[in-house]
Amino acid sequence: MINAIDGPAASVKGTLAKKLAAHYALRHLDTGLIYRAVAKAMLERALRLDDVEAAVAIAKALDPAKFDEAALKRHGVGEAASHVAAIPQLRAAVLAFQRDFGRGGPGAVLDGRDIGSVIFPQAEVKIFVTATPQARARRRAAELASAGEAVNLGEIMEDIRARDERDSARAIAPLRPAPDAHLLDTTHLDIDAAFRAAVDIVEAVRAGRKRG
Ligand code: DC
Repeated sequence: MINAIDGPAASVKGTLAKKLAAHYALRHLDTGLIYRAVAKAMLERALRLDDVEAAVAIAKALDPAKFDEAALKRHGVGEAASHVAAIPQLRAAVLAFQRDFGRGGPGAVLDGRDIGSVIFPQAEVKIFVTATPQARARRRAAELASAGEAVNLGEIMEDIRARDERDSARAIAPLRPAPDAHLLDTTHLDIDAAFRAAVDIVEAVRAGRKRG
């Protein structure tokens, strides 16, 4: 069973995906880490973020087993990831890895921007997680503060708006709910309530499949 969890930055889609995977004993892939790992390598080598050849070469050499989540989760890396993620050749280069990850075994939970729309359009469960930009900015600020990064809520809010715009306006695989995705608005939900709502969606899909 493939579970596609998509949504904008700081919508808590990653936490939900992780919790769903643990609950249903499925494997989990945070696909944002792929773009973040490419972006981090490009920043370290002082490459331009629109260098197509370099991005593709770095992507082909990635070892997801070595992803250092703490370093990849840094704010600047997320911003850079949003830029490199607009390169169509890079998206093509990392597509097979994501599909291979999802196949086999009892299934998987993948979270990102285009899982339900491009990577697994046939996913059994598709959830598009949203929240207002204000709620997402507050969460991102708390996350960064607890990781020891200096935060300015106004700047984070502006970055979130800019990132939404970039991720939604790009020509390839833009951030957009798949037509058959279930929308889950987490603006007024804490993580436990959001998780219960996500489980309800999965259970309803499963019950429908049994009946059908
Ligand atoms: O989910 P995240 O913040 O870790 O993602 C970082 C950036 O990577 C995001 O701004 C857009 C890009 N991304 C993408 O284009 N497609 C995905 N499936 C996952 C992330």
